[in-house]
Amino acid sequence: MKLISGNANRPLAEAIAAYLGQPLAKCMVRRFADMEIFVEIQENVRGEDVFIIQPTSFPTNDHLMELLIIIDAARRASARRITAVAPYFGYARQDRKPGPRTPITAKLVANMIERAGADRVLTIDLHAGQIQGFFDIPVDNLYAAPVMVQDLKRHYDLENIMVVSPDVGGVVRARALAKRIGAPLAIVDKRRERPGESEVMNIIGDVKGHSCVLVDDIVDSGGTLCNAAEALLEQGAKEVSAYISHGVLSGGAVARIAASPLKELVITDSIQPTEAVRVARNIRVISVAELLGEAVRRTAEERSVSSLFY
Ligand code: R5P
Repeated sequence: MKLISGNANRPLAEAIAAYLGQPLAKCMVRRFADMEIFVEIQENVRGEDVFIIQPTSFPTNDHLMELLIIIDAARRASARRITAVAPYFGYARQDRKPGPRTPITAKLVANMIERAGADRVLTIDLHAGQIQGFFDIPVDNLYAAPVMVQDLKRHYDLENIMVVSPDVGGVVRARALAKRIGAPLAIVDKRRERPGESEVMNIIGDVKGHSCVLVDDIVDSGGTLCNAAEALLEQGAKEVSAYISHGVLSGGAVARIAASPLKELVITDSIQPTEAVRVARNIRVISVAELLGEAVRRTAEERSVSSLFY
């Protein structure tokens, strides 16, 4: 087995390598003067089972191109099997046409990864499970939920928890986590009553007196999360925290979350946390390195990964 890291999240790749007790393969990923990407895998990978660890996070286009070019280099170096380990799969939110003459980038990116030469994909909490079907190669879509549940048990009194989906689209994911900890579920229903008027948040479920835990796959601008937190507190929630798989956190998201009434936001390291995230007063990062490391080990040994879903 060979583990290769691009530049997107080296600390996570190193943590996976440490879990597996195997160093990262030497691979140089650098830029020409015009910013084209150059890759050189500096050790033999002929006949090897190669795992390329590279979330396609910000800057998404650069990290996606790095992933494709490393796959190409490994394929041309006669790797036996190539697994693209993209814990965060960028471009996934455009997974259907919202209107005429619009793209489906999740499918386009799936085509690109496959065409570059990947034989398998390993990821976590795809924005929509159906994206697995955009690939004609095996995709293991792990859940961050088992890692979140462990952390919840360590930091919260599960007796008084109410899991909350911040929008109707996230109900399935939130319900699955609620089931794991035996907690009730509430749903935030966002409504814009008239165009141009601010959104009205209707809460489905009685959150009064509960410690609410918002569960979602992505926190990007933080708008969904902060609005939901305020609405829950207005409805009498005791406190509001959030567990979110992928901390995209673009623009002023970290400042918005720091200024919000959220007790804490817990994200995973599927995307490398920025310095602002590391020092934020109410953001905590938990690691999916062991989960991914175990999935890599089992894939390499041709063993089942099903138990990692529970
Ligand atoms: C949307 O369907 C996703 O699950 C997230 O709720 C969304 O991407 C969060 O975006 P933002 O943080 O910008 O509100």
